[in-house]
Amino acid sequence: AKPKILVTGGAGYIGSHTVLALKRAGYEVVILDNLVYGHRDLVEQALQVELVVGDTADRPMLDKLFQTHQFDAVMHFSAYAYVGESVTDPAKYYRNNVVGTLVLLEAMLAASIKKFVFSSTCATYGVPDVVPIPENHPQNPINPYGASKLMVERILSDFDVAYGLKSVRFRYFNAAGADPTGLLGEDHNPETHLIPLILLTALGKRESISIFGTDYATPDGTCIRDYIHVSDLADAHISGLEYLLQGGNSEVFNLGNALGFSVREVIAAAAAVTGLNIPITECDRRPGDPPSLIGSAEKAREILGWQPKYPGIKEIVQHAWDWHQKRHK
Ligand code: UFG
Repeated sequence: AKPKILVTGGAGYIGSHTVLALKRAGYEVVILDNLVYGHRDLVEQALQVELVVGDTADRPMLDKLFQTHQFDAVMHFSAYAYVGESVTDPAKYYRNNVVGTLVLLEAMLAASIKKFVFSSTCATYGVPDVVPIPENHPQNPINPYGASKLMVERILSDFDVAYGLKSVRFRYFNAAGADPTGLLGEDHNPETHLIPLILLTALGKRESISIFGTDYATPDGTCIRDYIHVSDLADAHISGLEYLLQGGNSEVFNLGNALGFSVREVIAAAAAVTGLNIPITECDRRPGDPPSLIGSAEKAREILGWQPKYPGIKEIVQHAWDWHQKRHK
């Protein structure tokens, strides 16, 4: 039988796409999700795997779960991820993202589960000195969200040394797009991410798309990001998992396309894909936004043999558009 994997946050955006990829690769999957931001309907309709509703900070629940199922590895996606909110309510972020993860790791060790795939973020780098950013770039996060993820990275290094817990840590750049077959997609509430907000504007659900800052030191004055297709992220997770299951050592990998697009370029791509007019409003900068974040994922290509299938911004936006039209019918 194929290995059995626990996926925390499997009802969320990146987690659900990874569950789909795991299922397609023949793995047995159980989802643990507290459904604060996750979607039960997507698990039931698109994924059809067991959903345990609960919190990673609930140690008795985890102990029971690990007695019921023999997991070969845990993939951990459950975290709060609103950068702005992390500044105004850091306690919420450190409690869920750090304490919740610590409880999960201790329960895993008690059950002798020693393989862990972790969702980290390019937000752990802060404002980079160089782009594309390599994995050994200094990590100086500029918000509590990034700090919470960096703390877990540190815990994972120490737990490897002390307890032999092997982990793959993925630092994602800007996850975007949707499952190309239309089964799943992005549905945050509240939505703060650029591409879904542009598409909601195209659908007439919002009046205009705000451009946060037009005076950055970039070619068109707007921020540049490295958008990576969520299904390519999901594929990388399968490779990272297989690497660990085959006895690989702890590693950290960036996941991006090493390609940057400005806010204006993304809006132009969406106008081309949708064929619709997308009104814009030029606004002040959003605090905490680095001008340019682009990641080098050479290491994931070399060690995991990972190869993004959908690196183009138009494909990413097209898949997101297919999904949004369906979801918001
Ligand atoms: N932006 C706008 N208008 C909007 C929304 C966003 O101009 O209405 C801009 C932002 O200023 C930024 C870019 O579009 O320059 C992308 O913004 P997102 O909010 O989509 O993504 P972020 O780059 O802020 O955040 C993403 C992830 C975080 C992660 C972060 C790392 O969502 O989880 O990358 O920096 F922490």
